[in-house]
Amino acid sequence: MASLTGKKVLLGITGGIAAYKTPDLVRKLKAKGADVRVVLTASAKEFVSPLALQAVSANPVSTDLLDPAAEAAMGHIELARWADIILIAPASANSIARLSAGLADDLLTTICLASQAELVIAPAMNQQMYNATATQHNLQTLRSRGVRQLGPAAGEQACGEVGPGRMPEPQELADALVLQSDVKALSGVCVMITAGPTQEALDPVRYLTNHSSGKMGYALAQAAAEAGAQVILVSGPVSLNAPDTCELRSVYSAEQMLDAVMQDISKVDIFIGCAAVSDYRPVASEAHKIKKTETDKLTLTLIKNPDILANVAALPAPPFTVGFAAETQKVKQYAQHKLAAKKLNMIAANDVSEKGIGFNSDSNALSVFWQKGETSLPVTDKLNLARQLVQLVAVKYKENKEK
Ligand code: PMT
Repeated sequence: MASLTGKKVLLGITGGIAAYKTPDLVRKLKAKGADVRVVLTASAKEFVSPLALQAVSANPVSTDLLDPAAEAAMGHIELARWADIILIAPASANSIARLSAGLADDLLTTICLASQAELVIAPAMNQQMYNATATQHNLQTLRSRGVRQLGPAAGEQACGEVGPGRMPEPQELADALVLQSDVKALSGVCVMITAGPTQEALDPVRYLTNHSSGKMGYALAQAAAEAGAQVILVSGPVSLNAPDTCELRSVYSAEQMLDAVMQDISKVDIFIGCAAVSDYRPVASEAHKIKKTETDKLTLTLIKNPDILANVAALPAPPFTVGFAAETQKVKQYAQHKLAAKKLNMIAANDVSEKGIGFNSDSNALSVFWQKGETSLPVTDKLNLARQLVQLVAVKYKENKEK
C-alpha cells in the first residue's frame, strides 16, 4: 500500500475559511506516515490556531519571516531544504497570485522560492474569484512551472454561492498526495486510450465526422504516461503529436478503431474510451465521387456502428473500463444510464452545451460517476484535468483489484 512514510511534508496554510480543516489534514498526513511541519500566514492565524496545529503535528509551527527565535531554531532556509513536498492548503487567490509573481515577502512565499521540494497547491476560494481571469492565469503560470494543483472541489460554499472553489476534504488531499508523490502509481499497468473523432466515408472525397480535436484523449495519454503506465493510444484523425512514450495506432473509421482496440485489448489493464466515435456510418462508401443531380434532395442511409466501449466492457475478462459521455442535457441521468447499460467501472461526463468546454476547446470540466460514488472536476485546462482524472482512475482501479 502506497504511503507517505519517510516523506517530509511542509503544510503551508493561507487565509481562508477552509483553514479550519487543516488540523484534520495534518492528522491524515501523519496517518500516512509523513513528518509534518506547518507554516501559517498572518491571515491564516485568524482562521486556525497555531497551538492546535502544533499539538497535532507534534512540531513547532512557524509563522513569521523575521522572528529571531524561530530563525535560531529552524530558519526559513532550513525549512526550505527540509521539505520533500510543500503542500499549500488552502491556497487563497492572494497567495496564488503572490506565488505566481515570485514574491518573497512572508515566510511561506520565501520558503517556496528557496525550496526544491515538489510544490502542490489546493486552491480554495469563492467561485467567482476562482473563475476570475487573473486567478486562472496565475494558476496556469504555476502549473506551467510544474506546480501540481489538487482540486478545487465544486459545491456549496461558505459564502452561500455554488461552484468550484472548495478545498478537497483532508482525506482526499492526503490520498492524492500519496499518489502524486508515488510517481510509479501506474507502473506496470497498461492503459489503452481512444481519442479524437472517427471519419465515416461517404465516397472517396467526403466523410461524416464530428468536432473532436483529440486534445482530451491526448492529454489523458500524457497524464497516464507521467503516472508510469505503458500507454497505447488509438487515435482517429487529429493534428496533434502523440507523447513520445505512447504507442500510437492511427485509424479513421469506427470499425478500424474497434479492430485496433481488439488487437491489443488482452494486454490492457485500464481502458479509457475518450474518442467521439460516430454512432452511425453510411451503409456503403461509394467507389466514386457522388455526383450532383437535378433533384434537390439526396437521401443517405446510415447503419449503426459497433459500440467499442460496450464491446470492451462485455469481454469475458474486461479491463477496468472507463467511458466518457458527451451530453447537452440531463448530464448526470444520461451518464449514469451509460455507466449501467454499458457495464462500465467509471464514466466521465462533460456538458458539451457549455461554452469553452468539451469539443475542440482547451479546457474541460467533468462529472465522474462510479457505482457507489461521484465527484466533479471543475473547469481547467485539459492536461490538468487529465492528470486529476488519471489519479482518480488509479485509485478506483486499485480498489477494484483489491476486492
Ligand atoms: O477531442 P476533444 O476536442 O478534446 O473533445 C473531447 C470530447 C468532448 C470528445 C471528450 O471529452 C468526450 O466527451 N468523448 C466522448 C464523446 C462521445 O462520443 O460520447 P458519447 O456519449 O456519444 O459516447 C459514450 C461513450 O461510448 C464514449 O466513451 C465513446 O467513446 C463510446 N462510444 C460511443 C459510440 C461508439 N460507437 N463506440 C464507443 O466506444
